Amino acid sequence: MALINKDFEQIYKTHVASRDVNGEMWNYLIKSDFFSAPASARFHLKYAGGLAEHSVNVYHRLKKLLQADNVTQYGEDSIALVALLHDLCKVNYYKLSKRNVKENGAWKEVDYYTVEEKLPFGHGEKSVFIIMNYLKLSKDEALAINWHMGGWDTRVKGGDYSISDAYRQCPLAVYLHLADVQATYIDENHGE
Ligand SMILES: [Fe+2]
Ligand SMILES: [Fe+2]
Repeated sequence: MALINKDFEQIYKTHVASRDVNGEMWNYLIKSDFFSAPASARFHLKYAGGLAEHSVNVYHRLKKLLQADNVTQYGEDSIALVALLHDLCKVNYYKLSKRNVKENGAWKEVDYYTVEEKLPFGHGEKSVFIIMNYLKLSKDEALAINWHMGGWDTRVKGGDYSISDAYRQCPLAVYLHLADVQATYIDENHGE
């Protein structure tokens, strides 16, 4: 089993565990590849453990954004839950493969990730589906996770306008999207 990300575990146990009544969500996380999965195959944090690290980065960004705007309507459990679990759609999703690359004239075997989608359910909507097998989400939590990709969401690209209604109704959805962008393109942008 992959090493559990200690920051993730601490935030989860402090703020989310009370919502995870029988510990079933936590059991799912530790039994799945969540803690060994990368955050992406080709871009940010494309290494084992990247997904958990990204989720922690999103949590810190979300906390900062809410504090800066003095948003007090969301409980610590909601804030931690949407940030830590927003990308559960990437569980059991990446596959580690090997390929040969030429380095200084010599061939070398390197690891890389490919996508092997076993539950083709979209992105944010897939995370909501997985989480709701284990714990109950409020409407705002579900909306936030569902629409966290903002304009990159394929439904939005296909012309679905309901994201605008969701963002109008639910500030948490706007802030989670912004936190995701900040974590991905500022905190995790290592120039690769
Ligand atoms: Fe995502
Ligand atoms: Fe994300």
